[in-house]
Amino acid sequence: MRYLAIVLSAAAGVQAARQCSTTTGYTHRVLDARYDGPDVDKPGSDLATISVSLSSSTTPLYECVAQWPESWKGFHNVTEKLIWSDCIWTGAGTGADKSMAFAVDWNKKVVYLAHVFACSDRQGTEGLATGTLPLSDLDCDYTEDGSAYCTPKATSSGARPDLRISTILEPAAPDANTASCSDISEQYQSWTLEKWHRQFVLTPGTFEPKAGTDTGPSFTLKSLGVHGATFTCATTSASVGPFQGECKSDVAKAAATFTFDPKLNILTVKQKWDCGNSAALETVGVGYMQGTCDRGFNSDVFTCSSEPVLIGTEAL
Ligand SMILES: *[C@@H]1O[C@H](CO)[C@@H](O)[C@H](O)[C@H]1NC(C)=O
Repeated sequence: MRYLAIVLSAAAGVQAARQCSTTTGYTHRVLDARYDGPDVDKPGSDLATISVSLSSSTTPLYECVAQWPESWKGFHNVTEKLIWSDCIWTGAGTGADKSMAFAVDWNKKVVYLAHVFACSDRQGTEGLATGTLPLSDLDCDYTEDGSAYCTPKATSSGARPDLRISTILEPAAPDANTASCSDISEQYQSWTLEKWHRQFVLTPGTFEPKAGTDTGPSFTLKSLGVHGATFTCATTSASVGPFQGECKSDVAKAAATFTFDPKLNILTVKQKWDCGNSAALETVGVGYMQGTCDRGFNSDVFTCSSEPVLIGTEAL
């Protein structure tokens, strides 16, 4: 059994890669896209849901889902940055990516996509590719109770439109030890978030963590915009949300802080790079964290974890 497990994980490692020395980029078919306004039957819920299903051919490979208060239109209301959200691999076919994330500007009706993968032709390196898709032709319907849902307009023959998102490789990130602030500001900034961990007690029959039991999140951030900068983040505030936290960096010039709203599952990351002469470069990323929480066996302790998640920054 042990042997089998090793073989399988090695095989998965080989599959989760893409050619990086390509100039044509990568194409993702959008099999389905749907926007749902708040469910007016649910009192107190003002959340809009957007979902996009991606594939390389006809089988859905990734399900991308995000939720935010409808009035935000895809942008965090405090930082005014795009909200990135994880695309979950369905397990059908072979995923070529380490993580895939999307964001939607609902004012402009544009979908943004970013994905990170191992380079099959440059062992030990990772590629980040980004792209956009305008959803200009949408059909929106309103249910009797007034909530909206929108889908891409069908073709004149009634077929699904052929929607594709093309992404292209971002230039290789400058090295953390030698990068200047101008190098960094020219590079698209994003991170892979790993080792998401949060714990709380949920008394049976209740829906809110028991007072004083929520640890808040801890995680690591690996910069994709500055090669070799990694942050270790932990909650420093009291055990009620929204949580505040600090990230320790392995690069002296870099620091980061975060806030996490457990009600909306919105994580905000602020990276600061010391540019000398008391100037600093600040980069803000926002992610919708749908880390799942599992109840321990015979226990009321919930533990939340997540696969690696890509957190992007402002529009590409
Ligand atoms: C942002 O939205 C949240 C949730 O709807 C709300 O509680 C908060 O007051 C808003 N903040 C600002 C600055 O608008």
